[in-house]
Amino acid sequence: MTSHLDPDHLRLALEHDVRTGLAATPKWLPPKWFYDKAGSDLFSQITRLPEYYPTRRELAILRARAAGLAAASGADTLVELGSGTSEKTVLLLDALAAAGTLRTYTPVDVDAATLTAAARRLAARYPGLAVRAVCADFERHLALLPRTGRRMVAFLGGTIGNLDPDARRVFLKELRANLRPGDTFLLGADLVKDRGRLVAAYDDAAGVTAAFNRNVLHVLNRELDAAFDPDAFAHVALYDERNDWIEMRLRATRPMRVAIAALGLTVDFAAGEEMRTEISAKFRPDGLRAELSTAGFTLREWHTDPSGDFALLLAAA
Ligand code: AVJ
Repeated sequence: MTSHLDPDHLRLALEHDVRTGLAATPKWLPPKWFYDKAGSDLFSQITRLPEYYPTRRELAILRARAAGLAAASGADTLVELGSGTSEKTVLLLDALAAAGTLRTYTPVDVDAATLTAAARRLAARYPGLAVRAVCADFERHLALLPRTGRRMVAFLGGTIGNLDPDARRVFLKELRANLRPGDTFLLGADLVKDRGRLVAAYDDAAGVTAAFNRNVLHVLNRELDAAFDPDAFAHVALYDERNDWIEMRLRATRPMRVAIAALGLTVDFAAGEEMRTEISAKFRPDGLRAELSTAGFTLREWHTDPSGDFALLLAAA
């Protein structure tokens, strides 16, 4: 595994984000810190919840379209940003292998443990495939992606929704700048829909998303010797209709003064104070098409599932 997030870098990035986010009003933390081993496992559980439709919808589109997408891309190298457990990736790898072009798979993720396990599993499943896992932050390390071959960069699951519009513009522009003619971008994006279904997907009855949300506090406790009481924070999921995004928050259920020993910091929470831990943007087809074209991509294919919940699109560099 190549790592652009060696322990020092990872640690500095976490320290920087925690100092910045917890000093802000309102407080916030970036969603990438959900994903230690426990957080990645909780996210896998989320993908199987009845309320959480995006994974199932994207899988259905991939099942129907992987062969066509693989043929249209002609890719020999699949780069997957935020690959996690790489569960959906087999559909793409199978299609690229069947098309006869596949040579290399480069999964990119911030969680080294999950990344390594997925890379091992796929290397065993595809004997001829070169699996080159890269532990990296897709917002910071795009320029370090493999530079050879005809590449398809896949960014699935709707993870692009974690970026706010400004960050998205920067990300798409940088990605485009790192691609050459012949390369393609495969993007999964969750679409605007009935608010009740959106909120339920982020506030499931079994409480798995609540545990996932609180996990970021466990990460801070372990990594930064912080003293958060995760059970004293309530899970909040709301849909912001003005911005078309789901927002997850942690609400302090009582006043708290929390020491973060490794940073020599104490942070005060008022009773009821809410800290934002994630946005998950939902897209309108016209808006997403416009964002891609502004970044310099040419839309080649646009697919949705039969219920129109989720979109999977292929764009050319
Ligand atoms: C992994 C970013 C796609 O935004 O739907 C799931 C993360 N957060 N439930 C999403 C998530 C709460 C997920 N992504």
